[in-house]
Amino acid sequence: MRTARAHVDATGLRVDIERIKRDVLALGEIGRDPEDRGVYRMGFSEADMEGRRWLLARLAEAGAEAWMDGAGNVHGRIGRADAPAVVVGSHTDTVPRAGMLDGALGVLCGLECLRALRERRDALPRAVEVVSFSDEEGRFGGMVGSEAFCGLLTPESLWFTALDGAVLRDEMERRGLDPMGALEARRPPETIDAYLELHIEQGPVLDRAGEPVGLVDHIAGLVKWLVRFRGEANHAGTTPMELRRDAFMGLADFAHEIPRILAENGGEHSRATIGKAAILPGAPNTVPGEVEFSLDVRDTDAGVIADLTDACRRALGAIARRRGLMVDLEVQSEIAPVACDPGLVDLLAETARELGLPDRRMPSGAAHDAQIVAGIAPAAMIFVPSREGQSHAPAEWTDWADVEAGATLLLNAVARRAGAR
Ligand code: CO
Repeated sequence: MRTARAHVDATGLRVDIERIKRDVLALGEIGRDPEDRGVYRMGFSEADMEGRRWLLARLAEAGAEAWMDGAGNVHGRIGRADAPAVVVGSHTDTVPRAGMLDGALGVLCGLECLRALRERRDALPRAVEVVSFSDEEGRFGGMVGSEAFCGLLTPESLWFTALDGAVLRDEMERRGLDPMGALEARRPPETIDAYLELHIEQGPVLDRAGEPVGLVDHIAGLVKWLVRFRGEANHAGTTPMELRRDAFMGLADFAHEIPRILAENGGEHSRATIGKAAILPGAPNTVPGEVEFSLDVRDTDAGVIADLTDACRRALGAIARRRGLMVDLEVQSEIAPVACDPGLVDLLAETARELGLPDRRMPSGAAHDAQIVAGIAPAAMIFVPSREGQSHAPAEWTDWADVEAGATLLLNAVARRAGAR
């Protein structure tokens, strides 16, 4: 049971939760597999493009100026053409076998904001714009849409090959997009007043606390390594224990060092995960000569990430010496943590209190488009609870009452920032 519900006073703006519901369910049917019930709208796939065309039609119906830019980002805009925009964004692409809410909910709540503001017919001193960024889930390596929007896309990124073998520029051409257009999707920062993103939490914190909204003040950065220990493969029966150079034992030692490293060098938001490992040659009767494993380290503070990765390097080196192994590591990705704009987070907090909603501030452990856009404009995020903390799965869900609370907060914050109230 939720203890807090949005109460809207006489001057507050309301969203129509029935319209949001209808949109979520309609978009959730696009790219859905009837067998496993998962949604498959991976970046620049046919289903993703169908979802984008569906969204363009909804935005036009809402009376917004609607268009797709060269990177496949869908925009809808109301208000003065020459004014900087309060941009509400997220994404409508998905991971394979996704739920209905990751990304889509933020875009559809943005669509509802446009409708609600237009129906009021107040003159807007600023423009309000909804964006659905393309390929947020990283089929082509990064966040193609928001990176293009922020001018970070390079010609080389168009040659990125997805795990399924598709090359970004070919896939764009297949969908009728000119790949070079992606390099022209850059938006001058002065045309953006602020960026707000509503997203499901994808973690258990709000659901456990029974709270309908959270205000994101930091988005965690991450470092991803591929680590290799090399020892010597040998016979499991004839090689005495003290003469082994067992690469897997190096991995086991390191895994046990992680809690100590986090306790000594981390903070309350630190995370470290070994999510993938391969033991070679991989035979039950052979001492492992080599292991290869991933290490994913996250925190909201760049200094803490640096301390954690230094400590990991030292531990890997010490283990290698002790066990007679060679160690090497490859940095696979690095995303800097981002602090949300304090003024915008304060605006969300004041608006939440006015609506009778809690104003809990929390970090985001997952990466979002907001992280990229924060490089060119003030940005902040609203989280709504994920039931049981589930995400990237068909079971992903948020109670409609919580969606209504989050969308109401988004609408009222957008209206304030755009000068409508
Ligand atoms: Co998302």
